[in-house]
Amino acid sequence: MNIAIIGNGGRENALAWAVRKSPKTENLYILSGNGGTEKYGINVHIDLQPPFSAIVDFVKTEKIDLVIVGPEKPLVEGLVDVLSGHGIPVFGPSSKAARLEGSKAFMKEFMQRNSIPTAGFRIFHSPDEAIDYVKEQNKPFVVKTDGLAAGKGALVCKTMEETLDAIEKIMVRKEFGNAGDKVVLEELLEGEEVSVFVLSDGSDFIWLASAQDHKRVFDNDLGPNTGGMGAYAPTPFIDEELKEIITDSIVEPTISGMQREGSPYCGILYVGLMLTKDGPKVIEYNARFGDPEAEVVLPLLKTDFVDIALRAVGSQLTSLNCEFESGFCTGIVIASKGYPDSYRKGFAISGDLNDEKDVFVFHAGTKKLPDGKIVTDGGRVFCVTALGSSLEESIKKAYLKAENIHFEGAFYRKDIGAKGLRGK
Ligand code: AMP
Ligand code: GLY
Repeated sequence: MNIAIIGNGGRENALAWAVRKSPKTENLYILSGNGGTEKYGINVHIDLQPPFSAIVDFVKTEKIDLVIVGPEKPLVEGLVDVLSGHGIPVFGPSSKAARLEGSKAFMKEFMQRNSIPTAGFRIFHSPDEAIDYVKEQNKPFVVKTDGLAAGKGALVCKTMEETLDAIEKIMVRKEFGNAGDKVVLEELLEGEEVSVFVLSDGSDFIWLASAQDHKRVFDNDLGPNTGGMGAYAPTPFIDEELKEIITDSIVEPTISGMQREGSPYCGILYVGLMLTKDGPKVIEYNARFGDPEAEVVLPLLKTDFVDIALRAVGSQLTSLNCEFESGFCTGIVIASKGYPDSYRKGFAISGDLNDEKDVFVFHAGTKKLPDGKIVTDGGRVFCVTALGSSLEESIKKAYLKAENIHFEGAFYRKDIGAKGLRGK
C-alpha cells in the first residue's frame, strides 16, 4: 500500500516508524516530515493549507491508499472531509467530530448533554458579561479560548484579578485572534492529571493506553506550559477498576454521544482527565494522538498500526484483537534553549541517534541538510523513548540514550516518570 502521513513533529515520526514496520506498507510519504522521518519514507514539501488542493493532487498522483492525519489544525479545518469527498481513505475525525478539540464551547455543552463528568462552566460571548459574572462570583476561574490557540488558550488563574486579566487578554486585546470570540470560564479542578487514548471507528472503540505527560518546562512542574516535555505509559494512577469507570462514564458516552448526534468519531481520541476526589473528570478532548504521548503509546502496540487504522476507517473495529506489550514506555523530550518561548535553530547535533531494539530516537524538530547532516529545526528537537519491563527500567534506558545526544543549548527534564514511580 501507499501511505501518506500529514505532519512534521515527534508524533508524526513515531507514526512513520509504526507505519514502516507494517508489512502492508510499500511507499510511505510524510507531508512534510522532519530529519528523522526520512529514515522511514520520503518527505514531501507541498502546500498543506486549506482548501487542501495540493494534498488532493498529490494523493491522487501517487495513488495513496491511506492518509493518516497527525495534527489538530488540518483536522479542525476539514482535511478529512475534503479527502473523503474525493473517495480517499483517511484516518482521523471529520471537522464536525474534531469540534471536540476545536471548540471548547461545543465540547463543554456536548459533555453536559451527555452527562459526562467535567469541570463546572459558563460560556460567554462578550467580555462585559464574563467580567460581571466573575465579579459577582468573587473567585478565580480557568479561562479558555473557544477556538484553537496552539495549546496556549487555557489560562489557569489563581486569583480573581488574574481571571479578569485573562478575559481582557482573550476577548478585548484579542491576543488569540478569533479563537477568543467566545470564552469558557471553568471551575478549577484539583488532582492528578492523566490522559487516555482510545481508537474509534465511529461506533466501536478500543482502549489503547493511559499515559501521563509533563507539561511544564522544568523539573518538579515548574516554569511555563509547553507542548509536553516527556511522557510515560501506561500510568499506574489508572488501575483496572478506574479504567472501567473511565470507560463507562466517559469514553463510551463520548463515542455513542457523537454517533447519536450525527458526528461519528473516527480516529484517535485523546481524553485529558483530572483524577479528582469526586472521580475522573474531563479537562479536554484532543482529536488526535498527543505529542509526546504518541511516542510512548505506539511502541506499546504489538498489533500492526496500519491494520488498525484501516479497520477504523472501514468501521470494522469489532473484529480486531489488539495486542499490547506488557511493560512500560517512557519518552524524554530534548528541547532547545529558550523553548517554549523563542529559540534558535540550525545547531549541529552529535551523539548516537540510532535506534536500538527497545530504544528509539524520534525526531521532533530536526532537518536534514543537503550534505546529509542533521541540525536542530524546532523547540522540541527529539523524543528519546525506551520500552522496559518496569517503569523504572524504561525511564533508565531512555535517559541513558538521551544523555548521549548533544547540541548547543540542549536541555531536558530529569524527572520524567518520577510521579508514576511515586504514585504506584
Ligand atoms: P486545555 O487547553 O483545556 O487542555 O488546558 C491546558 C492545561 O491547563 C491542562 O493540561 C491542565 O493542566 C490545565 N487545566 C485546564 N483546565 C483546568 C481545570 N478546569 N482545572 C485545573 N487545571 C486545568
Ligand atoms: N502533549 C499534549 C498534547 O499533545 O496536546
